[in-house]
Amino acid sequence: MMTKLGIIGAMEEEVETLLAQLENKTSATHAGSTFHAGVLEGLDVVVVQCGVGKVNAAICAQILCSVYGVTHLVNTGIAGSLCADLDIGDMVVSTDAMYHDFDTTPFGYPIGKVPGMPVTYPADETMMGYAFSAAEAVNPGHTRTGRVASGDQFVSRKDQKAHIIEVSEALCTEMEGAAIAHTAYRNGVPFVILRAISDKADDSAEMDYPTFEKIAAHRCAEVTKNLARQLKKA
Ligand code: ADE
Repeated sequence: MMTKLGIIGAMEEEVETLLAQLENKTSATHAGSTFHAGVLEGLDVVVVQCGVGKVNAAICAQILCSVYGVTHLVNTGIAGSLCADLDIGDMVVSTDAMYHDFDTTPFGYPIGKVPGMPVTYPADETMMGYAFSAAEAVNPGHTRTGRVASGDQFVSRKDQKAHIIEVSEALCTEMEGAAIAHTAYRNGVPFVILRAISDKADDSAEMDYPTFEKIAAHRCAEVTKNLARQLKKA
């Protein structure tokens, strides 16, 4: 089967950077989002900016699977750090992803578990390896692998951050990754999440976020390109 990579970006600049390098581009709109199919580094890809939050992310991931028949999914963007030694500018490659705000604990389930689904969604090991080396090539010595915790919350309070760390033991938090992982799981499509740290997910978060967004967008686009190159060679 031919590899076709679905790329779900969070930021406009990131998607624009990738689109500028897309060959044979054709665009179409589904459910209000524009999907751009083309060739990146010799690989068939479909790029979309999904919008903020879990529902927007899942809708776009499902369209990539059902309409475009992608064989792999990558989600890139920025995230808040949950870990003292993970600094602004560092990269995270997901080992797995979970919801920190899905709560059916009254029925005896742990936080994150959607009944009938796993608590965390494991990333594809081959894609993790490619994403790790792609990130290291762009920002050497600043990539960690670990869990990504997602929820419909921009995390900017210490108590909120502490709660997420307690329930998830994740390295970073953002608002889409686990929904994309969940969709990938249900479609049997391998995925990885790749995030650049933009803030510390505490009371400094609102200040750091805008400053770092542009740098992160370019960094994520570069790493995604490297990932496409490696998938093409495989
Ligand atoms: N994405 C980047 N920073 C974030 C934060 N602090 N909370 C949620 N999503 C984010």
